Amino acid sequence: MTDFTGLIIQKAEILLPNGNLFLGDVLIKQGRIVEIASSIDSNDVNTILDASGLTLLPGVIDPQVHFREPGFEYKEDLFSASCACARGGVTSFLEMPNTKPLTSNQLALDDKLARAASKSLVNYGFFIGATGENLEEINNAGPVCGIKIFMGSMHGPLLVSQEDKLEEIFANGSRLIAVHAEDQARIDRRREQYMNSSADVSMHSIIQDEIAALNATKLAIELSTKYQRRLHILHMSTGIEAQYLREHKQPWITAEATPQHLLLSTDSYKNLGSLAQMNPPLRSDNNQQILWQALLDGVIDMIATDHAPHTLEEKAQPYPKSPSGMPGVETSLALMLTQANLGRCTINQVARWMSTNVAKGYSIENKGLIAPGYDADLILVDLKHYHPVLREELKTKCGWSPFEGRNLTGWTVYTIVGGNLVYEKGKLHEQVRGKALKFS
Ligand code: DOR
Repeated sequence: MTDFTGLIIQKAEILLPNGNLFLGDVLIKQGRIVEIASSIDSNDVNTILDASGLTLLPGVIDPQVHFREPGFEYKEDLFSASCACARGGVTSFLEMPNTKPLTSNQLALDDKLARAASKSLVNYGFFIGATGENLEEINNAGPVCGIKIFMGSMHGPLLVSQEDKLEEIFANGSRLIAVHAEDQARIDRRREQYMNSSADVSMHSIIQDEIAALNATKLAIELSTKYQRRLHILHMSTGIEAQYLREHKQPWITAEATPQHLLLSTDSYKNLGSLAQMNPPLRSDNNQQILWQALLDGVIDMIATDHAPHTLEEKAQPYPKSPSGMPGVETSLALMLTQANLGRCTINQVARWMSTNVAKGYSIENKGLIAPGYDADLILVDLKHYHPVLREELKTKCGWSPFEGRNLTGWTVYTIVGGNLVYEKGKLHEQVRGKALKFS
């Protein structure tokens, strides 16, 4: 029987699992990739997409975002954030628990899942947050992509900085633990030492220094090694951490870097002021080289945005009242593909860091590759033209980007989620909904 609901993508430059680019067609039916061939008969599908001149990549899976719902919808919500994802080529996201209420139990998790089901244009998964007092919940509530521990740069119940509490979490259970690795005690001491009335935002990188990041990363790696516990190190920001990881990496440890730590530096405070303020902070540019090398060598496995929107009004407050965080889902892919175009890495590496390795690291079934049987979460990008990051084109509710004005290539032209076209040449198909990710 003929299935008339399918889609054919024609004449695309297709990134195959072996890393080669292949000019041909892709047949999609019932949300899955069915066939890849140099030419596919288009009689039995209802949609044909002419992808001449475009490159077909697996949709980006962003493994660290803060989408603010529930509790802070004035900054962002699951609808606005997912629109930004669709524009940026992000077809799935893994979202963090520092919302209000905190995602630290089944009830809060169910609420987020229900909100995402009704509002998100792309696929979604959520972390459960450790409080140091909710061992039962972090090990049993589900579905979750993992347990998030803020070892530093957090206040309230989600800050778990005491070594005995951390050890208890690593020693009990088997789920993936993702750590925000900063040494809170050191940060507190340095804040006392350096903070005075004339301190400007560039002090942020001095107060939350490289050693603060290294101390926490070391501790997390030590605990993971001791208990053979699956560990993911979030937004690695320094060369010394990357070097430590290179020497101590275990097969069950992964790490990520953000485009901002790879492409911005402490120099950025001059132009961006507190828009450049994030946790962990931006670093001096010698760190960038080491992070890049660690990515190229497979020491760092993934790219995440840490999309953390705050309003311009909030950001305009004087340091340290200005909140840390910057948006990223709309620009991450184009930023990285621009680096590929400049010869710093390959398109295949970008796809691995932003999709394949994330699916593998988080055991997300059927995603991250363009192959028969895989979900049709696909993006068509334009690697032939350049276009700047423009504030007026942004879909994120916060309405700004630290990369405004940068001329980028590799912008997404079409985004397909589960076989459905959700973004098309600047236009969103707002009725499309993503699905809850499954973690095997
Ligand atoms: O700068 C940051 N802001 N880093 C984080 O990890 C959290 C985030 C936020 O939620 O604002």
